[in-house]
Amino acid sequence: MKRVTVIGGGTMGNGIAHVCAQGGLDVTLVDLDADALERGLQTIRKNLERQAKKGRIEASEVEATLGRIRGETDVATGVAQADLVVEAVPEKAELKYSLFRTLDEAAPESAILASNTSSISITEIAARTNRPERVIGMHFMNPVPVMQLVEVIRGLATSDETTEAVMALSRDLGKTPVEVNDFPGFVSNRVLMPMINEAVFALMEGVAEPEAIDTVMKLGMNHPMGPLTLADLIGLDTCLNILEVLHRELGDDRYRPSPLLRKYVAAGWLGRKSGRGFYTYDA
Ligand code: NAI
Repeated sequence: MKRVTVIGGGTMGNGIAHVCAQGGLDVTLVDLDADALERGLQTIRKNLERQAKKGRIEASEVEATLGRIRGETDVATGVAQADLVVEAVPEKAELKYSLFRTLDEAAPESAILASNTSSISITEIAARTNRPERVIGMHFMNPVPVMQLVEVIRGLATSDETTEAVMALSRDLGKTPVEVNDFPGFVSNRVLMPMINEAVFALMEGVAEPEAIDTVMKLGMNHPMGPLTLADLIGLDTCLNILEVLHRELGDDRYRPSPLLRKYVAAGWLGRKSGRGFYTYDA
């Protein structure tokens, strides 16, 4: 694989473009919103410069990496030459379904179409295309340049060939891919979200203050950050969306979102990005 197109230049998309270009691939970063595209490209520059400052990469690598990335605002043009497309647009099922129809029409027939979705079924996305065997989940973690894992999700029709190609590419990018099957929340969020949710229930029931809950999990379980700090980092709206998918699709009460989580999201207390979640943050 030589040419990768990333759709969506936001939090995840610019990180994915960053690591692909660093891995020597030619990258097209597509965002419908020209301002968002520009912000995405600027974020990549800033993050590369930070890596150089910390001595993690050579200074010359900054411009060389940026030279492998071009921006584009039209999806069909952006994917016309792609060997691989990685979609990272907002977590809305209808948006992803219609985008995959467009990708299927506009990308070369041999191209693999991957989604970075956190919770939407790969099988259902693949069913909107005429190439379900070449549709797969490529779930990077935030922040992409730092986090080691890529959760590779096989839809029901995903072929061995597609899976092997995506596993190999992830390794080439310096990541550790782990193959899982398509099931609500995959492995990462199915295991993580009930823990975060339970921490919110514990807070709601007055078991302990946020700092105490986080400290118990950090020092007692050796987690690098506590569940409430992590929830603020992910975004409480995102956590609620994923819990709703798990609750609806797996039908078990253990995934029922805490009423306190709903209340915070309703108040617009979404975590770090809104300046207030379980903790408060400077703007
Ligand atoms: P974001 O909101 O930061 O970025 C999405 C970008 O997509 C925006 O720049 C927007 O202008 C653009 N966009 C919207 N519709 C588009 C279209 N039709 N064509 C091209 N660009 C379009 O979203 P974020 O956080 O990067 O999430 C993207 C995906 O990654 C979601 O599926 C999310 O569930 C998943 N994800 C997010 C993680 C996180 O920590 N934020 C972690 C792992 C996965």
